[in-house]
Amino acid sequence: MSTDNNGRSVGLDRVLVLEVARVTEAAAIAAARLRGRGNEKAADKAAVDAMWRELGRLAIRGTVVIGEGERDEAPMLYIGETVGSGDGPEVDIAADPLEGTTICAKSMPNSFSVLAIAERGGLLHAPDMYMSKIAIGPGYPDGIVDLDAPAIENLTALAKAKGVPVSEITACILDRPRHADLIKAVRDAGAAVQLIPDGDIAGVIWTTDPGETGIDIYMGSGGAPEGVLAAAALRCIGGQIQARLMASNDDERKRAAAMGITSINRKYLLDDMAPADVIFSATGITDGSLLDGVHFRGDVAETETVVMRSKTGTVRRIRTSSRIIAASA
Ligand code: FBP
Repeated sequence: MSTDNNGRSVGLDRVLVLEVARVTEAAAIAAARLRGRGNEKAADKAAVDAMWRELGRLAIRGTVVIGEGERDEAPMLYIGETVGSGDGPEVDIAADPLEGTTICAKSMPNSFSVLAIAERGGLLHAPDMYMSKIAIGPGYPDGIVDLDAPAIENLTALAKAKGVPVSEITACILDRPRHADLIKAVRDAGAAVQLIPDGDIAGVIWTTDPGETGIDIYMGSGGAPEGVLAAAALRCIGGQIQARLMASNDDERKRAAAMGITSINRKYLLDDMAPADVIFSATGITDGSLLDGVHFRGDVAETETVVMRSKTGTVRRIRTSSRIIAASA
C-alpha cells in the first residue's frame, strides 16, 4: 500500500489517472514526429525523453521497476531510477515509452506509448529478457488454459468454455521463426492464427474483447517487460495471464537473481505479476485497432489514450487536442 510523506496509507489517487494519461500522450506525440523515418533509436529516444520529463512533473515518489533496461545501459528510465516530483504516494512504475519501435519506424499499425503505475510492490520486477506467455480475456473459469499444457489442450478447453468449435478460436502469435512449432500446433488443432509483426502488449489486450478483435488467446514468447505491462492491463479489465521467464544464459540468470528472482522457472500468474492497485495508460502513436495514432493538424496534436484503473475497473478513452509547445516549456 502506498503512503504519503507522513507514512499514512493513501492508495493510488484517482487524480493520477489523468496525470498518467498526460505522460503517455507526451511520449506518443514525441515518437509520432519520427514515424516512418526508419530510425528506431531516434523515435525511441524521443519517446523516452518526453516520458521522463513528464514523469518528473507527477506528484509521486516513483521507482522504475520496468523501464529501458539496467542502469549501465539506459541513461533514463533505467530500472531503479527514482522519478516524480518527490511528493505524493510511493509507487512502482512500468514504462515502455515506445512499444513497437520497428512498427513506428516503418509507420505500420499498432505502436503506442504505455505506462503502468502501481502501489509500491504492485508490479513484478522482471529483467529485460524473453518470457513465455499465455493469456485470455475475462469471463472464463480460472486456470482454464495453462502455460505448460499442449496447445491443443488449451484451445480445446477454451473453445468448450466459449461454447464454440475449436475452428472458431483464433490465437494471436508474434511472427517469429521461434514460434514455428507453436503456429503449426495451433493450426493442426484446427484453430486460426493471427500473426503480428511486433507488439504483444496489444496481442494480450485484444483477447479481452474477442467480439471486436477476433482474438481469443495470446500465445508465445515476447519481452518480459511487455508481459508485466500486459498483466497490469488485465488487472484493470479482467482476464488471465500465465508467464515464465526464459533466461538463456548465465548472465540472464544472474540479472534475474539480482532483481530478487530466486526461482527462474517459476510460473507467474496475474496476481504475481500485477498484485496491487494499478493505473494503466496507453496512447496510440501509429493508427491501430486498439488506439488511433497521433494526428497532427497545424500546431495541434490529436491523441487517443486509454486509461484504466484496477480499483474501480474504470476504462476511459480520452481524445485530446493539445497545442504543440516546445519541449522545454
Ligand atoms: P520493442 O518496442 O521494444 O521493439 O518491442 C516490440 C516487441 O514486439 C514486443 O511487443 C515483444 O514483447 C518483443 O518485441 C518481442 O521480441 P522479439 O522482437 O525479439 O521477438
